[in-house]
Amino acid sequence: MVAATSKEHSGKPVHLVHPHLRGLLRLSFSSIDEAMRKDYELAFLSLPHGVSKVVVPELLEGGRRVIDLSADFRLKDPELYRRWYGWEHPAPDLLRRAVYGIPEFNRERIREAQLVAVPGCNATSTLLASAPLARLGASHLIADLKVGSSEAGSKPSRGTHHPERSHAIRVYSASGHRHQVEVMQALADILGRDVRVSIVPHSVGSVRGSYASVHSLIEVDEEGLIRELVSLYAGEPFIRIMPRGTYPDVRNVLGSNFADLGCSVDDGRASCFSAIDNLVKGASGQAVQCMNLMLGFDEREGLLIPPLRP
Ligand SMILES: NC(=O)c1ccc[n+]([C@@H]2O[C@H](COP(=O)([O-])OP(=O)(O)OC[C@H]3O[C@@H](n4cnc5c(N)ncnc54)[C@H](OP(=O)(O)O)[C@@H]3O)[C@@H](O)[C@H]2O)c1
Repeated sequence: MVAATSKEHSGKPVHLVHPHLRGLLRLSFSSIDEAMRKDYELAFLSLPHGVSKVVVPELLEGGRRVIDLSADFRLKDPELYRRWYGWEHPAPDLLRRAVYGIPEFNRERIREAQLVAVPGCNATSTLLASAPLARLGASHLIADLKVGSSEAGSKPSRGTHHPERSHAIRVYSASGHRHQVEVMQALADILGRDVRVSIVPHSVGSVRGSYASVHSLIEVDEEGLIRELVSLYAGEPFIRIMPRGTYPDVRNVLGSNFADLGCSVDDGRASCFSAIDNLVKGASGQAVQCMNLMLGFDEREGLLIPPLRP
């Protein structure tokens, strides 16, 4: 049984709301309540922050497996929700059970998980570029991030509406971007030590893409940094390392689950760069990659889609 839910569009064929899917599926939206009464094995939740935390416990009680794309189960310490999101977590025991859904670092835990919390798009691009530098000893990373308008979801706000956003290049959340706490938690888990991460995000005029340039002040030569990238991500089906002297470009990953990574070194400064499609490797593609692992499918199933270019 497959169901797609929507409050606003319940009852309408999916292709009327998402016209690009016309001819590809015969499915109408149902309400969450209606879908929850049906027989299914796994649910994807793509709800706003603060809504998933109410729905997830009920789904898990029914024995279902859940992949949640919101931030509601990404952090382990309930205190962090008070500090970063301003609310008390209603199910702190579930935070311990939730697995952070980044296959490159958590593959085995994802296979067994009942609840997977998919990382934020900016957290994914930042983490993929941060890990090699942190493994080489960096203890403080600065991530300069560029992100397209679809990051802000489908409902326009004053800052994300097209006339405001088109041609923009501007900083937002210049201090205290919420994704940095996720990245620090993930790095501590990978390395067993704390690494400070500061993200400075910029809105740019494109629709899709999250591009992280992560900088550190460590002594390493370019050969050594490329070697680290290659060995860390060896065998990863969706990570592509750029040859020396070339750098990732969001245009080369659009519409795909690939993350392109590159690096540069200059007089005591070492940087890694990461380009992803925020809606694919930064959200739905990563969620499907996790589902493939959870259900014992080939991890690449349904995801080996060539990026669109130009
Ligand atoms: N956009 C990205 O790049 C990205 C990347 C990674 C993770 N995420 C996370 O994924 C989640 C969804 O993001 P999105 O960009 O798809 O946002 P979105 O376009 O705003 O979609 C969220 C949808 O949730 C439904 N909804 C809203 N309020 C609700 C409520 N109170 N109860 C139940 N349903 C409600 C609405 O759909 P209906 O009215 O049709 O039900 C709404 O369109 C968010 O938590 C976001 O942070 C987004």
